Amino acid sequence: MDLPEFAMFFQPTIIIFGKGVASDFSNELSELKIARPFIVADKVIRELGLLDYVLKGLTSGGFEIAGIFDEVPQDSSTSVVVKIAKAFTETNADAFVAIGGGSVIDSAKGANIIAKMGGDLVKDYSGSGILTKHLFPLVVIPTTAGTGSEVTNAAVIYDEESKTKLEFIDRFITPDLAVLDPNMTKTLPPKVTAFSGIDALTHAIEAFVDIDATTFSDMFAKEAISIITSHLENACKNGDDLEERGWMSIGATLAGIAFSHSECGIVHGIAHALGAVNRVPHGIANAIILTYGMEYNLEARPEKFDELSKILGVYDKHLSILENGKRAIEKIKEFEERVSKVSGLPLKLRDVGVKKEDFALIKEKALQDGTVIYNPREVTGDGVLEILNEAF
Ligand SMILES: [Fe+2]
Repeated sequence: MDLPEFAMFFQPTIIIFGKGVASDFSNELSELKIARPFIVADKVIRELGLLDYVLKGLTSGGFEIAGIFDEVPQDSSTSVVVKIAKAFTETNADAFVAIGGGSVIDSAKGANIIAKMGGDLVKDYSGSGILTKHLFPLVVIPTTAGTGSEVTNAAVIYDEESKTKLEFIDRFITPDLAVLDPNMTKTLPPKVTAFSGIDALTHAIEAFVDIDATTFSDMFAKEAISIITSHLENACKNGDDLEERGWMSIGATLAGIAFSHSECGIVHGIAHALGAVNRVPHGIANAIILTYGMEYNLEARPEKFDELSKILGVYDKHLSILENGKRAIEKIKEFEERVSKVSGLPLKLRDVGVKKEDFALIKEKALQDGTVIYNPREVTGDGVLEILNEAF
């Protein structure tokens, strides 16, 4: 590997991991000077008893719950974020505690921006590096192992007006505390486990091959790829196995650190477009596009794909760099098929309601997506269409 010309590592999130920590993290809250947390969650989290599990710990730790917003939909949007911010402000709370998957966490990040800064979320803050000061403390308790949002400086929120998924990238929205408890993910159905896990794997692989990858991000990406490919299939098969769940939580968090220090690329660019145009769930879109995106990038960074073959245990010293890279992609294909078999994860666009006549709009949105500029190979309209056709 070449010595980087420039590299930066910044991870302000305190991460705690353990079976049971989601109902016992009072010490960390006190250290953050939090007294009146406001909870953001969704109905499913409440129905599964996960909200009560966390609330019990908070109340027995002497914290006063300032308010609860548990109506975040599966695919949140800017109007929901505005509602959360308003509810937060009315309760005089001093911190956000987000309990849920990517939609809940990213909504809390967006609400934190408006609650602290005021103004219009889309007009004033969408984009990168716009915020100028610290927000309210944000604690995140993920209930999926996938988005990595518990440690990232990014939020992706659907804007109803432009019908686009907008990115908010800023170091001030990075959570202050991430609480990783395998008990919080054990009730996830196999299919959700699968697509969340493949989302995390996509973060790690894209972070690993992107133009912004450094030795710091690689360290996290490589470990995440190794952990996720070793544990996702079993986590789908044996949902209540806390060992498998625990490893997946750690893998997804490491992948989150990796891509927030590198970036995502063409796979996420197309996945965001599929989310906006066809409302394909993010992880499913990534699962469908991942290996075609890897094939698109292979010749741009063959040495990275060669290294990937070592991580995945398919490296053959008699083969060329390019051939080993192809073996790595084949291994990921096989892995996805195994995961699909035990979870029902769809791996083709035609199986998730996408039509060929949607391709032109998907292409247009993918080319506008902020992630594609970090892709190791220039992303062209023809390239996107080629991938969509292969993935159909
Ligand atoms: Fe993602």
